[in-house]
Amino acid sequence: MTDFGIYYFSGTGNTKKCAEAFGLALKNKGETELFAIENGQEKFMPAKTILIGYPVHGFGAPQVVLDFAKTLPAGENLFFIFKTSGEPLRLNDDSSHSLRNILTKKGYRFGGEYHYVMPYNMIFRHTDEMASKMFLTAKERIQKDAEDIAEGKERKKKILLRAKMAYFINRIERPGVRFNGKLFRVKKKLCIHCDRCIKNCPVNNISYADGKFHFGSKCLLCARCSFLCPKDAIRIGLMDFLRVNGKYNFNADPQNAKIGKYCRRAYKRYFSE
Ligand SMILES: Cc1cc2nc3c(=O)[nH]c(=O)nc-3n(C[C@H](O)[C@H](O)[C@H](O)COP(=O)(O)O)c2cc1C
Repeated sequence: MTDFGIYYFSGTGNTKKCAEAFGLALKNKGETELFAIENGQEKFMPAKTILIGYPVHGFGAPQVVLDFAKTLPAGENLFFIFKTSGEPLRLNDDSSHSLRNILTKKGYRFGGEYHYVMPYNMIFRHTDEMASKMFLTAKERIQKDAEDIAEGKERKKKILLRAKMAYFINRIERPGVRFNGKLFRVKKKLCIHCDRCIKNCPVNNISYADGKFHFGSKCLLCARCSFLCPKDAIRIGLMDFLRVNGKYNFNADPQNAKIGKYCRRAYKRYFSE
C-alpha cells in the first residue's frame, strides 16, 4: 500500500502545482502517488495517508471533489485537505466543511487542512510577479506542512460559524454553476479551432458539431477552457465579467510583487505568517 496518496482536482493548474510540490516534499518520507480527479477515470488506490486538494470555488470545494469523496470505500485512514484560492480570506480557509463531513462519516480520520493562496483564475488577474511570490510562498509552506503530515501531526480546527456560512454560500452557488455552463459561447471570429477547450475539459462537456460549439450540462465552472484559450474566444455566461485569460508566468521576479488595495490586510497577514 502506498504511503501517501495525493488526490487533487485542478481547473487551471494552481492546485496541480501544489499537489506536485507535496509529491516532491513527501517523496523522501515514503512511497507517494499523485492522482488527478478528472473525467471519472480516477481509480481509488488505497494509501495509508490520503491528501485531497482542490481550488476553492465560491467558498467551497468543487462538486467533482465531493462526488469523488463519495465514491471512496469506508476506511480508517488519516486524511488531510489542501486547497488553493485567490485571496487569503478566512472564509476560504473554512471551505472544507462538506468534504470533511463526507470522509469522516465513512470512518476516515481528519488530520488537518492547509490553505495556499495562488493567483486568481477568475475575478481579476494578479500580476506575474505576485503569482510567482504566491507559488514560492506556497512551496515553502508545503515543505513544512509535509513534514507535519509525514509525522502524522494532526492540525485540527474547530468548525466555526463562518465555515457553516461558507458551506451555505457554496450550496446556493452550485446549481447556478451548471445552468451557467449552458450559457458559454465561443466568439467565432476569434476561434482558430485548435480544439484545446474540447480536449482539456475535465468533464468532456464541450463538443463541436454542425459548425457549432456545444456546451453540455456538466460544467464545473473550473475556467480551464476560457483560461487556456489562446485567442480568449470563450465567453463564460453570467460570470464573463470575471473572466481571466492566459497562463501566469511563475518565473517572474517575486521581489517585484506589490500587494494591491484589494484585501490588502489579508494578503499581508498571509505573506508574513
Ligand atoms: C468558479 C470559481 C469560483 C472561485 N471562487 C473563489 C473564492 O470563493 N475565493 C477565492 O479566493 N478564489 C476563488 N476562485 C479562484 C480559485 O480558487 C484560484 O484561482 C485557484 O487557485 C484555482 O486553482 P486551479 O488552477 O487549481 O483551478 C474561484 C475560481 C473559480 C473558477
